[in-house]
Amino acid sequence: MKKTGFTGRIINLDALTYAGNPVSLEDIERQYGGTRYFFEKGDICDRAFVEEVFRKYNIDTVVHFAAESHVDRSILGPEAFVKTNVMGTFTLLDAARKYWRTEAGEMRESAQTGVLFHHISTDEVYGSLGDTGSFSETTAYDPRSPYSASKAASDHLVMAYHHTYGLPVTLSNCSNNYGPCQFPEKLIPLSILNMLESKPLPVYGDGKNIRDWVFVEDHNNAVWTILQKGKTGEKYNIGGENEWENIKLLHTLIDIVARKTGGSAEAMRNTVTFVKDRPGHDRRYAINCAKLKHELNWKREVSFEEGLSKTADWYLANTQWVNGIRSGDYKNWIEKNYGKR
Ligand SMILES: NC(=O)c1ccc[n+]([C@@H]2O[C@H](COP(=O)([O-])OP(=O)(O)OC[C@H]3O[C@@H](n4cnc5c(N)ncnc54)[C@H](O)[C@@H]3O)[C@@H](O)[C@H]2O)c1
Repeated sequence: MKKTGFTGRIINLDALTYAGNPVSLEDIERQYGGTRYFFEKGDICDRAFVEEVFRKYNIDTVVHFAAESHVDRSILGPEAFVKTNVMGTFTLLDAARKYWRTEAGEMRESAQTGVLFHHISTDEVYGSLGDTGSFSETTAYDPRSPYSASKAASDHLVMAYHHTYGLPVTLSNCSNNYGPCQFPEKLIPLSILNMLESKPLPVYGDGKNIRDWVFVEDHNNAVWTILQKGKTGEKYNIGGENEWENIKLLHTLIDIVARKTGGSAEAMRNTVTFVKDRPGHDRRYAINCAKLKHELNWKREVSFEEGLSKTADWYLANTQWVNGIRSGDYKNWIEKNYGKR
């Protein structure tokens, strides 16, 4: 992450579901814990808890990342997605509206008070593309999975709170992220770890589904740019302008991991296994992020080759993090340090 010059406090509100791992935050905790960084374990659907956090820290900016985020899980169990992504977003929005209202009952102006609710969303809300074209900020929503439908609903609530109550909001729709610390259910970390253990590398359908990929630090820099320069009430697409067929991505990743480990790329290629396609699997996503680039002057800084290499290095170096997740040890650690969920 680029140096931002930020001197304020960050309050991290997270329920520590299966996907949340406080071990990933040990560095920031060590450096800033208790002075500029505070962790609050709790559920964004818990209104009393959320209001308490607003009061306790006098929150002026919400950057709403918390979500259920994995499409496959949403197909198996959509309820958690509706709860967290729809009801959780509603709860945060309504708590912000209540806390940021002036004594006269009017919403404070963002420019005067500096309050802002930034909502993190996905390009998946736009649906699926054919061979050409890309999603712009004005593309009509057409979500196909319970995950993308729940994120679409949350996006609409965010904009409705802006238009109806004047809540100062910004919204970003980002393409597929990859990088360190990603829970190994998503394509890139899952594949890296399977390569290291000579396990099969599953690929959906014919492997020709296309996604745009952006390195997590580029996503975070884009969010920071929007927080600094974004216009209230506007939405911004974030993407890497980096489209890849899943199967080609996998072959590139195999070459990188084989090079780093001295393993056989050919043997790894032989473990690629085409599995039954995901129901409702969107064929292609491509994102047009010209608005963010030209209006706010953001640009992607990490090339795909460099980002994949950094990601593979991280998973190779952090076996303790990986083993903790795989063995379930980190769940015991969370329970010991933060109590049961
Ligand atoms: N990963 C991607 O490729 C991608 C792409 C575009 C947008 N996004 C969006 O970015 C955000 C973060 O995605 P991610 O991939 O890091 O997700 P993730 O599933 O890896 O992590 C989600 C985090 O939210 C927390 N959380 C879940 N339910 C909660 C609840 N009810 N209350 C409080 N905290 C809760 C989890 O503990 C975890 O720390 C999401 O809003 C997602 O929709 C992700």
